[in-house]
Amino acid sequence: MTEISLLRQRLLDDLAERGTLSDPWQEAFAALSRHQFIPDTIWEDSTGELMPLRRADNPERWLEAAYALDAVITQVDDGHPTGPDDRGRYITSSASQPDVVALMLTALDAQHGMRVLEIGTGTGYHAALLAHRLGAQNVTSMEIDPTLAEHARTALAATGYPVTVITGDGAQGYPPHAPYDRIIATTAVHQVPYPWVAQTRPGGKILAPWANHYHNGALVCLTVQADGTAQGRIVGDVAFMELREQRFRATIDDAECEETTARHSHTSVAPSSVAGDYDASLAIGMKVPHCAPIYVSAQHYPDHCARLWFADPITKSWANLLHQPDTCTYPVHQSGPRNLWDEIETAYHWWLDAGRPGPHRWHITITPDAQQVTLTETSTPVGVTP
Ligand SMILES: C[S@@+](CC[C@H](N)C(=O)[O-])C[C@H]1O[C@@H](n2cnc3c(N)ncnc32)[C@H](O)[C@@H]1O
Repeated sequence: MTEISLLRQRLLDDLAERGTLSDPWQEAFAALSRHQFIPDTIWEDSTGELMPLRRADNPERWLEAAYALDAVITQVDDGHPTGPDDRGRYITSSASQPDVVALMLTALDAQHGMRVLEIGTGTGYHAALLAHRLGAQNVTSMEIDPTLAEHARTALAATGYPVTVITGDGAQGYPPHAPYDRIIATTAVHQVPYPWVAQTRPGGKILAPWANHYHNGALVCLTVQADGTAQGRIVGDVAFMELREQRFRATIDDAECEETTARHSHTSVAPSSVAGDYDASLAIGMKVPHCAPIYVSAQHYPDHCARLWFADPITKSWANLLHQPDTCTYPVHQSGPRNLWDEIETAYHWWLDAGRPGPHRWHITITPDAQQVTLTETSTPVGVTP
């Protein structure tokens, strides 16, 4: 066996061990060599800084990364690193984690002969897996970044999967190849774009990572209805980078977030209750838009108390909770036009009173004008976004 076939086999064994690889996709994973899609420069996340790793400098490490069970970071800062010394600040493209790819392909439920639109070509690896099973002529993939699109086109052609890669905004879909049986996004959306519904045949499915500003971590599967809407549920737990035009980045600036002049109060709700619980975070994000939680560890502060911050970059509101060990009340600071902590605490109590609904209880409807989210067994909308 060559080194590459050993690495490919190891990846298959790792996926089998995790139980995410279903039969129809096993053959595609076995046939494809992931490193053929990985660019020569990748990025490593070392203590919060994104450092380049060039294949020419360390070919063994590069190859190891290509076959690991992790995502491979393939672009930072839209291709123009903004950190000091050529370092990156934000991940803007990656080859997704192989077990997440396997999970999503299984959830897509694509059958022979189906036509699929993929949003977020990235390296082209996922598009090649689709093409191996469905035929390259049945797969269209969209990538917003021209450099990435060109890299994927070249890799797909070189490996024998001449998928049509469109450089453009995937939120608009690609009408010339519609209607699709399946649309799969490999980039997270806050709102499912209506063109995806319009370009999928009735009965067809849309599978997309779905995030709110507070919580990034759901996979939704929607079925397109004859009336032109799409309806569905959360079917998995995945976290992806956001669609470029739906990006939401919140940061905390020590100089601007001055606790001494902020509104001060106390709460009995522990930071872990509103940030460490998947189900609660999902619900809070639906009730409290444009707000992101940011955890900053104790060593950053002279009082040695960790803080859980909440930031809304649009209105420049922020709040924080001090995590004082061995207490059951926590100091709160709030600043700006919104009382973010009050909103979060209210949303948290609403979630408790609703019986702590988990992901399977949420029902999502996409119409031409809005995305509506309701709790099953009630018909009251919890969130409607235009
Ligand atoms: C996680 S990566 C995709 C991984 C890819 N499927 C693979 O196998 O390598 C997400 C990609 O979505 C792309 N993207 C972001 N916004 C987009 C948009 N509006 N239209 C198309 N692609 C977009 C990013 O540039 C990035 O390459």
